[in-house]
Amino acid sequence: MSVEELWNKLKNATGCKSLLKKHLTEERYKNLKGKKTAFGGTLADCIRSGCENLDSGVGIYASDPQAYTVFADVLDAVIKDYHKVDKLNHPEPDFGNIDKLGFSDLDPSGNFIISTRVRVGRSHDNYGFPPVITKEQRLAMEAATVSALDKLKGELAGTYYPLTGMSRETQKQLMDDHFLFNDSDRFLRDAGGYRDWPSGRGIYFNHAKTFLVWVNEEDHLRFISMQKGGNLGEVYSRLVKAIRAMESSGLSFAKRKGLGYLTFCPSNLGTTLRASVHIKIPKLAASPEFKAFCDRYNIQARGIHGEHTESVGGVYDISNKRRLGLTEFEAVQEMRRGVEACISEEKKLGKWWRIW
Ligand code: ADP
Ligand code: ARG
Repeated sequence: MSVEELWNKLKNATGCKSLLKKHLTEERYKNLKGKKTAFGGTLADCIRSGCENLDSGVGIYASDPQAYTVFADVLDAVIKDYHKVDKLNHPEPDFGNIDKLGFSDLDPSGNFIISTRVRVGRSHDNYGFPPVITKEQRLAMEAATVSALDKLKGELAGTYYPLTGMSRETQKQLMDDHFLFNDSDRFLRDAGGYRDWPSGRGIYFNHAKTFLVWVNEEDHLRFISMQKGGNLGEVYSRLVKAIRAMESSGLSFAKRKGLGYLTFCPSNLGTTLRASVHIKIPKLAASPEFKAFCDRYNIQARGIHGEHTESVGGVYDISNKRRLGLTEFEAVQEMRRGVEACISEEKKLGKWWRIW
């Protein structure tokens, strides 16, 4: 579909609640429709997914790092709305003191939290995002990433497994264990996320599968630290060490003043950090107050197979919703407070159920 067709579909949509629909006004559309970034990215590349999927929550992606400047008129409005900030003055990275975090295991009883995961996204400054990157560029970027990963030592040392040539069974097992991404997200597909699949995609992990790197999924890179149980302190510290090691390995990551680290989706900008637990909260989740509860703590609930999936057996993925306008340490603290509140609320509801 041409940019005009995409725009008309969005303009005529009723019941569409996306941030794209809200912020791409006629005036902005007219001003932006003819623009192009140095990577060749257009307005159509940014809005295709949100126009094809009118049930999108966000609805817009950045075609490449420069889109945040060229299409700032609409992207800035979406970013402010999603992250609930008035100004785009994201602070410099601050991971806190990992030797003195002040938190460790959020669930020493082991009754609630099944596993904990913290991830960040990173983009290479000199490559476009999925709508514009070529197969050759994706392969070159994969090669540069793998040579940086090869330098990791100690607990972080591991092996890179390209998706090309990986058996279906291995892929399925890694997905079932929540380690690997898949190619079934229609929002990402319509944004160009699966072009030339599976070429240039892969996963790196250490022996214990507690540190993982996704290459060329939604973002160029996703660094992930995860383990069973609720020890957020261990998971977060490992991730911070990994980020530092990757930064000193010669890679340069896209970052802008006021926006923080750049990602394909504006919902991930800034810290790019999503700290989550898989947690058993059947009573809280069934309560009519659950949505308001999540909003109050700035947390988001997802199903256990990731975004846009359902909960199984009252187990939810609970994470910080905001990633921009606060530091990494503050984002993880926001998630910690939310998770602690979930546990205490679930316990309270459990007591009431017993009395009744
Ligand atoms: P992200 O945007 O953080 O990559 P997704 O919602 O797409 O998140 O989830 C990616 C994968 O990570 C999914 O398989 C999901 O089940 C898994 N995952 C997320 N949080 C946890 C967690 N706390 N423990 C185990 N697996 C997790
Ligand atoms: N584009 C999708 C939407 O608007 C996903 C947005 C956030 N998630 C993501 N993985 N970037 O609903």
